[in-house]
Amino acid sequence: MSATFDDIIDADERIEPRDDMPDAYRRTLIRQIAQHAHSEIIGMQPEGSWITRAPSLKRKAILLAKVQDEAGHGLYLYGAAETLGVSRDELLDALHDGRQRYSSIFNYPTPTWADMGAIGWLVDGAAIVNQVPLCRCSYGPYARAMVRICKEESFHQRQGYELLYTLAHGTPAQKRMAQEAVDRWWWPSLMMFGPPDGESTHSAQSMAWKIKRHSNDELRQRFIDMAVPQAEILGLTLPDPDLRWNPGRGHYDHGEIDWSEFKRVLAGDGPMNAQRMAHRRRAHEDGAWVRAAASAYAAREEGA
Ligand code: 3HC
Repeated sequence: MSATFDDIIDADERIEPRDDMPDAYRRTLIRQIAQHAHSEIIGMQPEGSWITRAPSLKRKAILLAKVQDEAGHGLYLYGAAETLGVSRDELLDALHDGRQRYSSIFNYPTPTWADMGAIGWLVDGAAIVNQVPLCRCSYGPYARAMVRICKEESFHQRQGYELLYTLAHGTPAQKRMAQEAVDRWWWPSLMMFGPPDGESTHSAQSMAWKIKRHSNDELRQRFIDMAVPQAEILGLTLPDPDLRWNPGRGHYDHGEIDWSEFKRVLAGDGPMNAQRMAHRRRAHEDGAWVRAAASAYAAREEGA
């Protein structure tokens, strides 16, 4: 007798597209994978706007490679979502009409070059902490997409850290620019991990189904514990006066996160929400002819 969905989950094995699965499992995976993909695509905007303004050819080439990687991550993830019986067009429609989300983190501005470093170190660093456990997600296509994405994310994080290190050990103006960028990105990076566990709608079920392997607060704490010593090596300070090592907990205690800001950004009222969505919709419209040409070509090849 073939294993049931619960047998496979209990055995810590993988659910594959053709396996029986509860509708709710399918729905929450479509929700999470789609929002992850949308985040990768929207996430190209903050950094893409600096490609033409990079301070050197080397930095331009690195940033170009990173932004191209993010596009690829989006395509892997849309591909993983499509194995659940939903089309990319449906997912993009859901993003464009606000029925699906993208990560709050990309609704913040990038006013200086140092923001490229802070995004790489903090945002991609947080993404790695969140995504490594997803390599063990119970849904096969998602877990496998994550393995390759995580390898590329480590380059993203390292290039950002090295960029900030260079600025922090440069002129006083460069160090100030780096510190101001870290001040802008620290708290929004902590919000990337989702609301506090007590307010998480999906965590309990997602953990029972082994989609989510750790809670939002656990991963947030893991990220904080990793970032504090790195900030010390950078010679930059993190904008939280309550950050201090708690030997009893074996973790860093930290200040209160402003969850009202998180809720405002999720409700569409962040600093850049309108710009990000207007840019996304315009890019989708401008790309309609490419999609039409690709479909016409595919139809002709099929008919040939
Ligand atoms: N931004 C936007 N929405 C968020 C959010 C965030 N940072 N954190 C939580 N939410 C939303 C959830 O989507 C959910 O709303 P919904 O029911 O409308 O979908 C609600 O807030 C409650 O949150 P939950 O904790 O119950 O939701 P999840 O169990 O889905 O946990 C998550 C949230 C931890 C973000 C989880 O979805 C996840 O791990 N997703 C995969 C990773 C991901 O999407 N990362 C996005 C970052 S972008 C990125 O990594 C790109 C890199 O190149 C920088």
